[in-house]
Amino acid sequence: MDKLKQPKIKIVNLSKVFGRAPKKMLQLVQQGMDKTELLTKHRHVLALDNINMELQEHSIEVIMGLSGSGKSTLIRHINRLIAPTVGEVLVDGENICGMSATQLRRFRQKKTAMVFQNFALLPHRTVIDNISFGLQVQGQSEARIKRSSHYWLERVGLTGYEKHYPAQLSGGMQQRVGLARALACDADILMMDEAFSALDPLIRSDMQNILLELQTELKKTIVFITHDLDEALKIGDRIAILNQGKLIQQGTADDILLHPADDYVRRFVADVNRTGVLRARSIMDVKIQSNPDFSNTVVVKEDDTVREVLHSMLSADSYNALVTNQNGKAVGRIDSEMLAAAVNN
Ligand SMILES: Nc1ncnc2c1ncn2[C@@H]1O[C@H](COP(=O)(O)OP(=O)(O)OP(=O)(O)O)[C@@H](O)[C@H]1O
Ligand SMILES: [Mg+2]
Repeated sequence: MDKLKQPKIKIVNLSKVFGRAPKKMLQLVQQGMDKTELLTKHRHVLALDNINMELQEHSIEVIMGLSGSGKSTLIRHINRLIAPTVGEVLVDGENICGMSATQLRRFRQKKTAMVFQNFALLPHRTVIDNISFGLQVQGQSEARIKRSSHYWLERVGLTGYEKHYPAQLSGGMQQRVGLARALACDADILMMDEAFSALDPLIRSDMQNILLELQTELKKTIVFITHDLDEALKIGDRIAILNQGKLIQQGTADDILLHPADDYVRRFVADVNRTGVLRARSIMDVKIQSNPDFSNTVVVKEDDTVREVLHSMLSADSYNALVTNQNGKAVGRIDSEMLAAAVNN
């Protein structure tokens, strides 16, 4: 994780209670009442409970948690479709909770774009007219709308389908349109609430790859909600885990697999095949002898997964790996016992 990155979005002491007297009910929470008691005794829902988190610029920030844990409520605070009961949401340092209606409209159009789980395409508009929809709302010129929408049509692999209607497309193709429409708006923040969850596994995997490929170039702040841990581990630069409206842990895939904050997170990650996720960097010993014995040692990269390290060691019939960084400098070492510990942990 690049420590120099600025937070694009900062969420400060944010709580949300749904019901008729949210502020009053929040006092009960602050005095120690939990979500269940608040619901059974007072018919109010504690959806978010004192969330503090930063979402980094140019990163895919995943939000995970069981159904009802507050993921959608949280993402809807970022474009203020929902206003907090208490707390602040800062985007580029500006508190969006203090914006006027006009400022808020401009903010939503310019800075945020959304991809929906059910695609939310307009059925009577063609593919190209769906892609250009956000640009029309923004009031862009005809020339710009045409250029941008054709560009994004091509980037999501739908050239030739511009005149088709959504009903003539498969689910995966419809979501490509949804993605192109969101990207055409050229917003800094892309919000995706279970955007790939309705797709078949293979199509879903394709969409993840398209998103990852585009992100290497676009470098947007992507807030990505998912139920699926494999998806989170594959695409997230960082993952935040919510439980009952509380932020339990936020970290890289390796942080979460190696140091789960509590039993809830531990249960989440229990069935993951770690070898394809953990990186050499996270399991290596950074102490390298000044005069290492390089016999029977393979060289691996710090970004290699444990599976790749294992493969390198097995193919060279070796028990030791020297870990190098991008510049080829040795930064650590891994032996077969360390590998076994990482896999069995
Ligand atoms: N408008 C609302 N009015 C009352 N309660 C609400 C409202 N919206 C959400 N909630 C409640 O807030 C809590 C968090 O809901 P939210 O939709 O954010 O969960 P989620 O993590 O997105 O779940 P899912 O994975 O099922 O989409 C739930 O207990 C839900 O019932
Ligand atoms: Mg939801």
